Amino acid sequence: GPNGHGPNGHGGPNGHHGFGRVARKEDARFIRGQGNYVDDIKLPGMLYGAILRSPHAHARLLSVDTAAAEAHPQVRAVITGETLAGLNLAWMPTLSNDVQAVLATDKVRYQGQEVAFVVAETHYAARDALELIDVDYEALPPVVDARTALDDGAPLIRDDVEGRTDNRIFDWEAGDAEQTGRVFDDAEVVIAQDMLYPRVHPAPLETCGIVADMDKVTGKLTVHTTTQAPHAHRTVYALVAGLPEHKIRVVSPDIGGGFGNKVGIYPGYVCAIVGSIVTGRPVKWMEDRSENLMTTSFARDYHMRGEIAATRDGRIRGLRVEVLADHGAFNGTAQPTKFPAGFFHVFTGSYDIEAAHCAVTGVYTNKAPGGVAYACSFRITEAAYLVERMIDLLAAELGTDPAELRLRNLLRAEQFPYSSPTGWEYDSGDYPRTLRTAMDIAGYDELRAEQADRRARAADAREDGPLMGIGISFFTEAVGAGPRKHMDILGLGMADGAELRVHPTGKAVLRISVQTQGQGHETTFAQIVAHELGIPVDDVDVVHGDTDQTPFGLGTYGSRSTPVSGAATAVVARKVRERARIVAGAMLEADPEDLEWTPGRWIVRGDPSSGATMQEIAMAAHGSLELPDGVEGHLDATTVYNPPNLTYPFGAYIAVVDVDPGTGKVTVRRFIAVDDCGVRINPMIVEGQVHGGLADGVGMALMQVMAFDEDGNHLGASFMDYLLPTSMECPSWELGETVTPSPHHPLGAKGVGESATVGSPAAIVNAVVDALHPYGVRHADMPLTPANVWRVIQGRPFRT
Ligand code: CDP
Repeated sequence: GPNGHGPNGHGGPNGHHGFGRVARKEDARFIRGQGNYVDDIKLPGMLYGAILRSPHAHARLLSVDTAAAEAHPQVRAVITGETLAGLNLAWMPTLSNDVQAVLATDKVRYQGQEVAFVVAETHYAARDALELIDVDYEALPPVVDARTALDDGAPLIRDDVEGRTDNRIFDWEAGDAEQTGRVFDDAEVVIAQDMLYPRVHPAPLETCGIVADMDKVTGKLTVHTTTQAPHAHRTVYALVAGLPEHKIRVVSPDIGGGFGNKVGIYPGYVCAIVGSIVTGRPVKWMEDRSENLMTTSFARDYHMRGEIAATRDGRIRGLRVEVLADHGAFNGTAQPTKFPAGFFHVFTGSYDIEAAHCAVTGVYTNKAPGGVAYACSFRITEAAYLVERMIDLLAAELGTDPAELRLRNLLRAEQFPYSSPTGWEYDSGDYPRTLRTAMDIAGYDELRAEQADRRARAADAREDGPLMGIGISFFTEAVGAGPRKHMDILGLGMADGAELRVHPTGKAVLRISVQTQGQGHETTFAQIVAHELGIPVDDVDVVHGDTDQTPFGLGTYGSRSTPVSGAATAVVARKVRERARIVAGAMLEADPEDLEWTPGRWIVRGDPSSGATMQEIAMAAHGSLELPDGVEGHLDATTVYNPPNLTYPFGAYIAVVDVDPGTGKVTVRRFIAVDDCGVRINPMIVEGQVHGGLADGVGMALMQVMAFDEDGNHLGASFMDYLLPTSMECPSWELGETVTPSPHHPLGAKGVGESATVGSPAAIVNAVVDALHPYGVRHADMPLTPANVWRVIQGRPFRT
């Protein structure tokens, strides 16, 4: 049955008819090792590509000598920036209307930048031949710290762009500066804090790659590639390379995690395509781990200064923020065109605030280009972190309990739909209920009592155990980009198509444009069709990840699949159901208007004994039954769904940490997460999404940063230095839920894939800072590694 652990909730695929804890269809192949990832693809005659990368962060390229590499017996081609310049492909557009070097021609602008591409008979030969390429560089001073990028005399990174004289990419603002200024001027309490959301990396298990295959006879290019957005990539290839779009097929097979890393088009993809055109054979290029961490799409790197204004009795009145955004050497940020700082301006979060203003300045630095929204909807993670830290700073200043302060300022249920001061319309919510649910699960009052007791003992030196901290975060996400009138990426609108075929025997095939990277779309989208048509989930197959087989749509990121393509799926299934009504009318010799739908059947209103099942109707629709004039027969339908608004999932998170003051080590003792993503299609999958995002949060809060030395050398190019959280660092998650349906989504569902990544870092940081309260610590930047925590409390006396 819906939502429960039904009899079929465990074990293999099953006869479930809709929503609920259906076992994942895709697991049948994954647990048998039968997944099919890009690196599993081996085409006849396939060659292998490898990239020569710059050791310098900033250097002039004087010469590239490829003669020895070309003489290698196994090498079939060596491609340089000069080769590409001859094809007008040395530069490609980025997703933010900048340009990026495919292979360097003039300068290298970050360590690891692509300089040459070797195509050889084997992967090893290609790598060996890289050593034979002789490059002459003239090192230039790099810009490593974004805060110096706009200094007078800072090295100019983008001298390729005519007329450019500094490293500024954009200045952008949202909200009302004047009104916010007035609110701050007469506020009783104003607090300011600088904070950094460090540069981190999505680091999916599977790195990025491609197998490019240009068929010279048909003129058709097939690329098998790790992309979260197959259709968008096809269009971009068509526009950039001048290839006819119907002669490009993008196949995205099983994807081993994306998290934003697989949204963009990387130089390696373009090189592999050129390699296939040049050699006439398929070319595979797969990144290794270091290449992935060093070059393909970092996230965040926001230097933020937040200010919050409030009354003495804890009414928040204003929020103001200035951001310096480090975008690396090329502005490759993936986000809707009109929003250079993504959805950062949703930073008033979940609170009823009179006035708000943000100003964001983007700068170039000698680092890898980006950034992407790692598991979040276009920089909402940074926004949620900022406001949740500011609320805690205010609570500490006022001496108010942070839960109490939040409850006093959270938007109330009757305020929805809510228009935010920076122009968002939140669709639905009941925030206090969700926070109270989390507090109940946590036993919040008892936790505070335990903490007070421990602090008292520590102050009396009766105890030198760990310091206990409790941290709350309440987040609002804005997912499901997006309404065409507001949002596009490189001019492509963000509506998604869906096609549904119902075969004569009542089995269905759904074709969608979104691309699962592990979220279980083959299961949940089949559940949507099953729910709408009243047929078993097992009778629905989902086709995705092949542009020749699926309708156009912009892909999977920003938790947009359920809000956009999920809605498209419900709409197309309802179209099929309406077609079935007409056929059923003919079958039952009744006016279709006199029929009513019961799950799986159209019946004559009020007479359940006379009806036709979906399967019977499907057969009749393909049979010899006489249909009314103008009715085409068959049941297949297509649709395009243009979302009227984003959906706004939200949640309340509570972290309990223990900090060892001797070592600075943080242990997450408990983590309570209450998510509200509207109606849940598959609660088990939703919980899995939340678990993953919470682990992400532990990683970012406690251990991750892409660091650089003063020469621009990348210091996190392996998992020895860039740490991923494991089950050892994660507590056993305690989940709860509230359900506030989205009023505009046909199923009442909101996206959830990234909620936990967005909401969890602030809860953990708030908890650590709370633990350090006796030392008078107000703030500490992520990652809260043992060394960083230890450093923060040095020289500070312990006082309660
Ligand atoms: O775009 P992405 O798939 O990453 O995010 P999503 O739309 O939030 O969906 C993540 C997974 O959770 C999908 O399999 C969804 O169908 C499922 N989900 C659900 O079952 N119920 C919801 N209300 C939201 C998502």
